[in-house]
Amino acid sequence: MVSQLPVSIVDYSVTVSKTISQDLPLAELERMCRSKISDDLWRFIGPAETGSTYHRNIESFGRFLLKQRLFQGISSADISLELFGQRVKTPILVDPIGNFSRISNEAEVDVVAGALEAGSMVFIAHSWQSSLEKVVASPHPPLVLQSLFTKDFEELKAKVKLAENLGFAAVGLTVDTVVTPKFGDTVPYGTGWNLKSPTIEDVRKLRKETSLPFFVKGIMCEEDALLAVEAGADTVVVSNHGGRILDYSRATVEVLPEIVKAVGSKAGVLMDGGIRRGSDVLKALALGARATLIGRPIFWGVTVGGAEGVSMVIKKLSDELVRSMVICGVKSLEEANEKILLFAEQ
Ligand SMILES: Cc1cc2nc3c(=O)[nH]c(=O)nc-3n(C[C@H](O)[C@H](O)[C@H](O)COP(=O)(O)O)c2cc1C
Repeated sequence: MVSQLPVSIVDYSVTVSKTISQDLPLAELERMCRSKISDDLWRFIGPAETGSTYHRNIESFGRFLLKQRLFQGISSADISLELFGQRVKTPILVDPIGNFSRISNEAEVDVVAGALEAGSMVFIAHSWQSSLEKVVASPHPPLVLQSLFTKDFEELKAKVKLAENLGFAAVGLTVDTVVTPKFGDTVPYGTGWNLKSPTIEDVRKLRKETSLPFFVKGIMCEEDALLAVEAGADTVVVSNHGGRILDYSRATVEVLPEIVKAVGSKAGVLMDGGIRRGSDVLKALALGARATLIGRPIFWGVTVGGAEGVSMVIKKLSDELVRSMVICGVKSLEEANEKILLFAEQ
């Protein structure tokens, strides 16, 4: 009798997957997500305070224009790349989001399955409910562990070792949760936050615990990028946590050039925040990011369409990226550089 249960779950997910259109604009997906979740959860995935940083992330892509270049004999573009020793089909990766389990029990598994289908890579957040063993038990894309600096270093060390033993591609630390995330004017975690804000010595200490590539996420200025790389980061992720931490911060795409200039010759630079179009991805790559990550669009996708919703979001942005590259005369990701960018008058 018990063995029949999983069958009905599988049937259910198949039904969900058939309902999602591959042409759905992300703005429509966002509206559909809004109508499916509670007011509380909607506020929870929103930005801190006035939302200035969140909106600035999105709107700042408008400061850069793309230069059309024809007559290059280009009709398609290769968007595959090698990252952390793994081949991925797209430079659009899945951001660490700690709260997929608030959507449903299956959401985390669906995110992994959807990213696999789209040929992407998943950053598993520190606070995912699924154990790392469970995540690797099913077919999965390349995985990366995002940790937060817990007060119990031994526990953190053990998790990093486990990720290494399970074949993860990289591990790293999010460093911007020096204060807890906030939605609007509410601080959801109150004082129940078992984290220590990491010093640069903490970063160095954790880095020494693993031989895997190590990233530091949440870098928003040149000075911190230099410190992170000096402490052993192979990769820095330019991120302001999607505007959930500091209101009136600069946008990530505004900060990206200064970070690439400071550490780009010594470390990889990834970026996230406000990416809603394939052209946003191309702009970030042209400014020197090796790849990009997306947060909320994945949340909307998995809420509305499970694994299929996640793969739809990544494939849609990847298709838009290819179209933009072709019309800009760019054949591969290595060819994306500042020559295809113009600066819009404000
Ligand atoms: C609901 C929610 C939960 C998040 N949880 C984490 C987390 O656990 N760890 C982390 O490093 N970043 C976390 N982030 C930040 C994302 O990884 C990412 O930096 C941000 O969402 C990117 O901006 P975007 O949503 O505009 O794409 C979270 C963001 C949201 C919206």
